[in-house]
Amino acid sequence: MATPATEVSALSLEQLTQKICDIPNDFHEAGVMGNGVLKAMARILSKMHIQHSAETGSGKTTLLFSHLSHHHTVFAKDQFDHFNVGSISAVQGSEFFQQERTEYVVGATQETLPHHHFEHPLDVVLIDGPHGFPFPELEYYFFYPHLREGGLLILDDIHIPTIRRLYEFLREDDMFELEEVCDYTAFFRRTNAPLFNPVGDGWWEQGFNVKHRNAAREEADRELLMLNEAANEADEAATVRAVKSDGERNIKYYLFRAVAKVFGADFALRVQRTWRAFRSQED
Ligand SMILES: C[S@@+](CC[C@H](N)C(=O)[O-])C[C@H]1O[C@@H](n2cnc3c(N)ncnc32)[C@H](O)[C@@H]1O
Repeated sequence: MATPATEVSALSLEQLTQKICDIPNDFHEAGVMGNGVLKAMARILSKMHIQHSAETGSGKTTLLFSHLSHHHTVFAKDQFDHFNVGSISAVQGSEFFQQERTEYVVGATQETLPHHHFEHPLDVVLIDGPHGFPFPELEYYFFYPHLREGGLLILDDIHIPTIRRLYEFLREDDMFELEEVCDYTAFFRRTNAPLFNPVGDGWWEQGFNVKHRNAAREEADRELLMLNEAANEADEAATVRAVKSDGERNIKYYLFRAVAKVFGADFALRVQRTWRAFRSQED
């Protein structure tokens, strides 16, 4: 049975969080946030004064934000081809939803976020919308310039390999300090490091790149070497096949390679074409 609005407003944050946790997991079809994380969010966010916040994806976390933030923006969509996950409608129909504090931007975040104009710095951002690569990174790109110093960045599902890479990147970044990890959700605090220019470059200054630069180069060199070796082996195998199959063709093959080496492949090809044309006239 629905809880009357007056009773909801009388609930303590702890009671409200428990009520949201108690909502069955089939609240919507896109996978709800776990209870441990909801409780961690309530604990951490209640210590902050949240004027403006945003999240990608909609669900139980939106219900919580609607009580903890004065103005919360949700970037989400429900309709996927012919399937409706119901994550927006479930929230909007819940007795625990404070509609007047929440703004929905409905649509694919890949399309809505790049055009969204944030009028105020954000105190909290939760990334929990589309999980495929590179969508969480794309969302990060459009959010990070708006996160205020001391603000909180929450990244969900860090067990997904590509999201884990973003998590590892953030762990090494000057702009963020890892505050807590709860289940598969990471809580990062924005430090006072200068904003990384979102329209510049500077990969060589980023902690993750500095830390892994030598290892990445060694790996790339190793791969290049292996590719070259494989190409050489294939080349030798082709030569051996040519020797076995046709003595005359083999000589031409060596000649072609020698000419190409000295005068370039274009010249060798021109000679080959002229030779073939000459032979066909003879025939
Ligand atoms: C894992 S659920 C979010 C769960 C929510 N935080 C909760 O506590 O219940 C993922 C959400 O992202 C939305 N979503 C998935 N792909 C999206 C996309 N490309 N653009 C916008 N929203 C998307 C889903 O509809 C769903 O609302």
